[in-house]
Amino acid sequence: MAGAQVHMCKTIYPAHANSHGALSAGQLLKWIDTTACLAAEKHAGFSCVTASVDDILFEETARVGQIININAKVNRAFTTSMEVGVKVTLQDPLTNVEKLISVAFSTYVARPADSEKVNLKPVELFTAQNFMEYMLAAERRKIRLDHERDFKNLMQEHGVNDEHVCRNEEDAVSTDLTHVQSIELVLPPHANHQGNTFGGQIMAWMETVATISASRLTCFHPTLKSVDMFKFRGPSTVGDRLIFNAIVNNTFQESVEVGVRVEAYNCEEWAKGHARHINSAFFIFNAIKEKGELFAFPRVKSTTKDGLRRYHEAIARKRIRLARKHVLLRKEADCIPYPWDQANQENMINSNIAALTLMAAKPGWEVTGTLDHIKIFTLEEDTLAIKIEMQVQIPSELAFSLLSDFALHAHWNKYYLSSRIVQNVTNDDKIYHTTTPSVHGNNSNDDLILVSQRKPCKTSDPYMIAVKSIALPCVLPFNQNYCKSQIQCAGFLIYSDGNNSSLVSYYNQPTTADTSYFAANFTGLSEKTASACIQFLESRSSNLNTTSLCDNS
Ligand code: COA
Ligand code: ADP
Repeated sequence: MAGAQVHMCKTIYPAHANSHGALSAGQLLKWIDTTACLAAEKHAGFSCVTASVDDILFEETARVGQIININAKVNRAFTTSMEVGVKVTLQDPLTNVEKLISVAFSTYVARPADSEKVNLKPVELFTAQNFMEYMLAAERRKIRLDHERDFKNLMQEHGVNDEHVCRNEEDAVSTDLTHVQSIELVLPPHANHQGNTFGGQIMAWMETVATISASRLTCFHPTLKSVDMFKFRGPSTVGDRLIFNAIVNNTFQESVEVGVRVEAYNCEEWAKGHARHINSAFFIFNAIKEKGELFAFPRVKSTTKDGLRRYHEAIARKRIRLARKHVLLRKEADCIPYPWDQANQENMINSNIAALTLMAAKPGWEVTGTLDHIKIFTLEEDTLAIKIEMQVQIPSELAFSLLSDFALHAHWNKYYLSSRIVQNVTNDDKIYHTTTPSVHGNNSNDDLILVSQRKPCKTSDPYMIAVKSIALPCVLPFNQNYCKSQIQCAGFLIYSDGNNSSLVSYYNQPTTADTSYFAANFTGLSEKTASACIQFLESRSSNLNTTSLCDNS
């Protein structure tokens, strides 16, 4: 057998369910943590503690009478820590149909009673599947260890300050009414034989307060959809008093993010008011109405500085979470750019235009941010896409001509360090060599993009500029910085909105497996870039007007 494996099988009884007969997510988190911890301890031969849990998504809701199967397996042992992969399925005993509820990855650290540091034995690899999990475990470890630092850096570099938060919505509900505080005393049944509180127990308590907080915004039962990646910062033990504080950070049409902070005190610390911050986590809920439709959460607003910061951080977290999910699920083949084939160039150009048209026509774009003249949408399907709508005070034809010229993009888009034409395929189709900054370090990345521009046939149709990455090794040989396609489908649709005004929609469906690229593009940078784009277009337009007035006089 490869990494140690443990199976848990449970029938769901009313005691495990919430008031409407669904398995409580807190109970499920407890079972997941117990099974994974037992797998880790089986491998280590020592007591283990939960160090962190990656993003967890719940695909199905389980009900009383159904059966939960949990399989946990150690994918890789590092020095003192191990990654455990957990698969949770739901089985209906009447139909025998089995459905996937979740796939989760947690990290456990071996903590022997004598508190000596251990060197864990490696996991033995017998199959190609074992080997793949072993390799992916290292990738995921990098993401989770850098997670907090990356998030802080991104918010500092690209974070949007308070003025960017939408304040003009008078019907937005104050987050103050969603504040929940609760206390728990850690007793022996909540802890292992060394007296350390079980991570799953803390998650279950957190989920309870988060659910109460979310329920303040809806008259339907909140259902936990996902939990953001988080870390257990420090231990707690039997006798600790745990204080849970929860509040809604933001709402996204059909979902809501609730943040929970946990502080621990032993008896002496309690008297002195000295808290230990042991955990913070972010829970995403939706709420289902009687007929199975999703409840639309009201917009929220916060009156405090922290609340405004958290409002914005929740947007960044949502985008990063979506990106991380798609990056981790992506197949390697998706990251290889299309080879530019002279014999097939007409098809490549047509597919460039067709892909943008199809993306723009898709239903399900969800608004994730609004600012003056700018609206940001995301679309989550097999892959993730972003749309930015900008209201610009210039004629659509001029916007089209300025945006078609990618050599000008470096003037407003920090993502492009440079762009130059390497091949004029036709008057309307050009290949550009672009360089883009890498988020960490000073290196830049190279890409080759095909830009196809089209004027509308009828006045009601949009101008169109479609973009996708291609491979052309004779111009740009593959190397370390250029081995992945960065843009699967992107571009602009420009609608005329009167003589001197247009609606510019920018679309992007990146393919890169570089999470930092996603993170930068899906945080405040997109709002800032959109503002810079509007400014660039409008200033070029007024320069042109001034020049033509001078010419006329
Ligand atoms: N995710 C995954 N692994 C992490 C991690 C994170 N966020 N933070 C640290 N680790 C890993 C390190 O990579 C290291 O692994 P390695 O030895 O295989 O390289 C291991 O944890 C120990 O790291 P170290 O830097 O020596 O210890 P630390 O002082 O950062 O402590 C914990 C890490 C997890 C042991 C510590 O934060 C802790 O005790 N947390 C509470 C754990 C707990 O009690 N959980 C139950 C609920 S309260
Ligand atoms: P941050 O404030 O950076 O998000 P914290 O770890 O302090 O990080 O808190 C995590 C989450 O817990 C917050 O986003 C918020 O939702 C919630 N929270 C923190 N402090 C409080 C509090 N005093 N009252 C209510 N909720 C809180």
